[in-house]
Amino acid sequence: MMKVIVTEDQIEGGAKAFEIFEKGIKDGAKVLGLATGSTPETLYQNWVKSDLNCSGLTSINLDEYVGLKPDNPQSYHYFMQKHLFDKKPFKKTYIPDGMAKDIPAFCKKYDQIIKDNPIDIQLLGIGRNGHIAFNEPGTSFEIGTHEVKLTENTIKANSRFFDNIDEVPKSAICMGPANIMASKKIVLMAFGEKKAHAVKEMIEGPITEDVPASILQKHADVTVIVDKAAAKEL
Ligand code: GLP
Repeated sequence: MMKVIVTEDQIEGGAKAFEIFEKGIKDGAKVLGLATGSTPETLYQNWVKSDLNCSGLTSINLDEYVGLKPDNPQSYHYFMQKHLFDKKPFKKTYIPDGMAKDIPAFCKKYDQIIKDNPIDIQLLGIGRNGHIAFNEPGTSFEIGTHEVKLTENTIKANSRFFDNIDEVPKSAICMGPANIMASKKIVLMAFGEKKAHAVKEMIEGPITEDVPASILQKHADVTVIVDKAAAKEL
């Protein structure tokens, strides 16, 4: 079932999302699936200024660009350090290794990590074309961690974080829909008008691999936090 919470803006959305994580952790959640992008920034702001102790928690991140080292400011490793882990140390943090020599072998290893540490709460954003993590339209709902060739759309959207578009990596390693669906609880955040169509398709559209996020309609416990602008088409 998808529960939808509409907030005034991203600030209120971040606070709401933090409440859900805080309660989940107090109720015993130990493994968190974490995400990057501009969407979760307000959640992490609330998190770092809270008194939540994270030293007993494990995190497993959704994705990482291929070819970026952890100290590259555009990498998702760097993002997580900066926005959360530097201030809130976790017991153990996993993020896909964008520098892995043997990517298929790494992906298998990551699937095993997720199996060994079942995710209690998974955080998600959504791309303008309905992608989750880097699972682009057309990705099989059945697959686990894999290497993804990024679409022109996603490369363009993410180029705002790079000096120029040629620096945006062409592929990424990411959890598949099957990994995401295996988590016990999912919190998806989306803010701004540019996400409104993807949000509508995800919640009200048919379940189709053309809209990766639409698979979430089949999950038993999804909370969608959207601001008014992203809820516009609902
Ligand atoms: C990227 C990330 C996704 C994220 C999406 C939206 O492609 N891999 O995990 O949800 O874009 O990004 P943003 O939150 O910056 O809008």
